Amino acid sequence: MRVLVTPDYRTLSQTSAELVIKAVRAKPDLTIGLPTGRTPIGMYEDLVKRYRKEHLDFSLLQTFNLDEYIGLPQHHPKSYRTYMRRHFFDHVNVLPANIHIPDGSDPQQYERAIQSAGGIDLLIVGIGANAHIAFNEPGSSFDSRTRIVALAPETIHNAQQHFGNEPVPIKAVTMGIGTILEARRIVLLASGAEKSDAVERALRGPVSESIPASALQRHANMIVILDEAAKL
Ligand code: GLP
Repeated sequence: MRVLVTPDYRTLSQTSAELVIKAVRAKPDLTIGLPTGRTPIGMYEDLVKRYRKEHLDFSLLQTFNLDEYIGLPQHHPKSYRTYMRRHFFDHVNVLPANIHIPDGSDPQQYERAIQSAGGIDLLIVGIGANAHIAFNEPGSSFDSRTRIVALAPETIHNAQQHFGNEPVPIKAVTMGIGTILEARRIVLLASGAEKSDAVERALRGPVSESIPASALQRHANMIVILDEAAKL
């Protein structure tokens, strides 16, 4: 596992965007796993900026999002589909047919779509304050596949700030930890002091299903990009 500590969020964002661009240049038909949340917003911003400036081509890219809330209409402002359009897809030439976002209707079909795309080459993932990855909450099996899950009370509580007066969904569909671990390369992003405890437990603690992100210690090709504040 390689750990890169960047001085600040801006550099974390640029470093992760650079890594994605390098991977796309090396393999234009890359299959990429994509996260949502506050952490990757800067990475998407940088990708869009560089896409415009450097005339990058994402038309062969296949994208698979890690997770999505259950129960929100697709165009709901807080759905991850809307997030992805707002921060990335509306600004670049990823083809709509190559965009995959799970919707809970057929989780096994999502797994098959990943397989038909040749598996995930590069998967970017954030981490929750309780060390969840995607929406794999503590207790998730390391063999888990794409499925519908109940969100942990802490996750619902943390998401409430984004939902204002509206209730936060209590269920989501998520790639499993087993699905995530099959990606050929994984990049974990963590920013801010509120993540340092989760990062510490994930990377230095025992590998345990009570700490979902600790599963990543088992991956042979893993890069962690932190900013100073999230540092162990
Ligand atoms: C949500 C997402 C995760 C994400 C996490 C952290 O729970 N399902 O995929 O990693 O939030 O989000 P943030 O980057 O906003 O801290």
